Amino acid sequence: MASSCGLQWLLLAQALLVVVASSDSCHFPTIFNFGDSNSDTGGLSAAFGATPSPYGESFFGEPVGRYSNGRLLIDFIASSLGLPFLSTYLNSVGTNFSHGANFATSGSTIRQSYATLSQSGFSPISMDVQTWEFS
Ligand SMILES: *[C@@H]1O[C@H](CO)[C@@H](O)[C@H](O)[C@H]1NC(C)=O
Repeated sequence: MASSCGLQWLLLAQALLVVVASSDSCHFPTIFNFGDSNSDTGGLSAAFGATPSPYGESFFGEPVGRYSNGRLLIDFIASSLGLPFLSTYLNSVGTNFSHGANFATSGSTIRQSYATLSQSGFSPISMDVQTWEFS
């Protein structure tokens, strides 16, 4: 089936949920994100091993858990709202969840995966698992 290289090519439908406690001035204090590699800021890395170089090289200067060479859309969304980059829920070091959390992991699917990452190439942290983490 899909190899870890295949993860790079997986473009799965992504659910982006911005939970807002907004006022009339549209102040967005918090982002909670669910998804796959399109918005994974380090979830798969935290759970299954760090992304290798050169991912992150062009913006961060080192691998930072994104399957991208720079920032992701969720990074630009957070920045445009005046918020810091989202900490990934599965990371325990250097995180700060005061402005939300990111539950996305690369290779995630909407439907539950009944195989391991190495068997299927898909993250076992599917959408339902991400919502359980949120709960
Ligand atoms: C977490 O971020 C908030 C807002 O940026 C900041 O006020 C707080 O000091 C941070 N906490 C830690 C432990 O860094």
